[in-house]
Amino acid sequence: MHEFKYINNHLYCEKVRVEEVVKKYGTPLYLYSYHTLIDHYMKLKEAFKAIEPLICFSVKANSNLALLKALVDKGAGLDIVSGGELFRALCVGCPTEKIVYASVGKTSVEIEEAIEKKILFFNVESIPELENINRIAQRKKRLVNVAIRINPDVEPKTHKFITTGKLTNKFGIDFKTTEKIFTQARNYSHIRLNGLHIHIGSQITESEPFVAAIAKVVKFIEKLRKDNIHLEYLNIGGGLGIIYDKETPQTAQEFAEKVLPLLKKTQLKIIIEPGRFIVGNAGILVMKVLYIKKTPLKKFVIVDAGMNDLIRPALYGAYHNIVPLILKKKGLGEREKVDVVGPICESGDFFAKDRMLPKVEAGDYLAIMGAGAYGFSMASNYNSRCRPQEVLIVKDRTFVIRKRESYDDLINNERIPAFLLGI
Ligand code: LLP
Repeated sequence: MHEFKYINNHLYCEKVRVEEVVKKYGTPLYLYSYHTLIDHYMKLKEAFKAIEPLICFSVKANSNLALLKALVDKGAGLDIVSGGELFRALCVGCPTEKIVYASVGKTSVEIEEAIEKKILFFNVESIPELENINRIAQRKKRLVNVAIRINPDVEPKTHKFITTGKLTNKFGIDFKTTEKIFTQARNYSHIRLNGLHIHIGSQITESEPFVAAIAKVVKFIEKLRKDNIHLEYLNIGGGLGIIYDKETPQTAQEFAEKVLPLLKKTQLKIIIEPGRFIVGNAGILVMKVLYIKKTPLKKFVIVDAGMNDLIRPALYGAYHNIVPLILKKKGLGEREKVDVVGPICESGDFFAKDRMLPKVEAGDYLAIMGAGAYGFSMASNYNSRCRPQEVLIVKDRTFVIRKRESYDDLINNERIPAFLLGI
């Protein structure tokens, strides 16, 4: 479900015609629907209401302050992976007891900051990291909560770059080593080892891999309990898939039905860290057709957005639906096979290959659907391109939530050494 729909052949976001936004703010432009965002969060909350988990939105999926604030206001916590994300979480007033911190490479400075701010806990991914947190906590005379991120060694059936729960991945700690950590807990005098965490991958469309991973962890929790080791939290990560094309992902309700019996068995406080599920379909990337280029073999639709604005097709071969802002004829009209490509000097700079699309001309606008998650948050300035504007729609109101970058923004932090200036 999302709030991007055609009304009389014009694409709308909630009650606003997308062309109107584009006329005012130009392209490329990320456009978000407030109600879609909140609706997805509420769907998950509702599906899991029997156990009232803490839902920590995964900031990496989309870290715009306005969207974070909207979710935090509805009671969401945040899942962070860096000092920068902690800074953002604090900027929007996220209660620090609702912040969880994952990442295989937390620096000592980042750990210190998070301890100072009293986050709920660290998801720890290695013994050296655990030792480092203990050392820093000792120095700061603090007792710090830690959940061990388990690598359950399950196959999530998704793209290999976003698979994280196999033992060949860099993430988490195997069961055996985790058990050792718990039995040697006294070595970590300033750590309260009170949770387990799993996150097996992203864009997972079936419940089965989640169930397999959670079942393994539940068995492990029972084993620990027999050894008189008692936990407080189980964090089951994120990873819920969404519809980009013809996927039929589990709904929040279906997912909850499958995993709730297992989760209830643990009697622990449950945390969920979804990113894509909440924001993925709440955003689109709007772009303008610059040229139509015909070659002996191909027809290219050259647009003004590039892989620097949305890297998912280039990086993962990800499929995103592409639609025109205005349907020219009734229905989709005449269609043709095209590649939709950006202006960047790389052959990987494409949004669609050999795709049947309604016929478009230079000056027309297209929207890339499902661009809310890992869109702007993975955007870069490659080719010295200014990152796009971000706009939020709330019913009939339009809010700029990030200004388009300027050329000055591009060079703001750069310095030419005096000797090159002949000084
Ligand atoms: N928790 C942890 C520890 C994670 O590493 C991630 C995502 C999440 C939660 C949220 O996962 P989600 O619910 O959004 O699937 N750039 C890739 C996705 C990378 C996901 C990284 N970790 C993409 O565009 O598909």
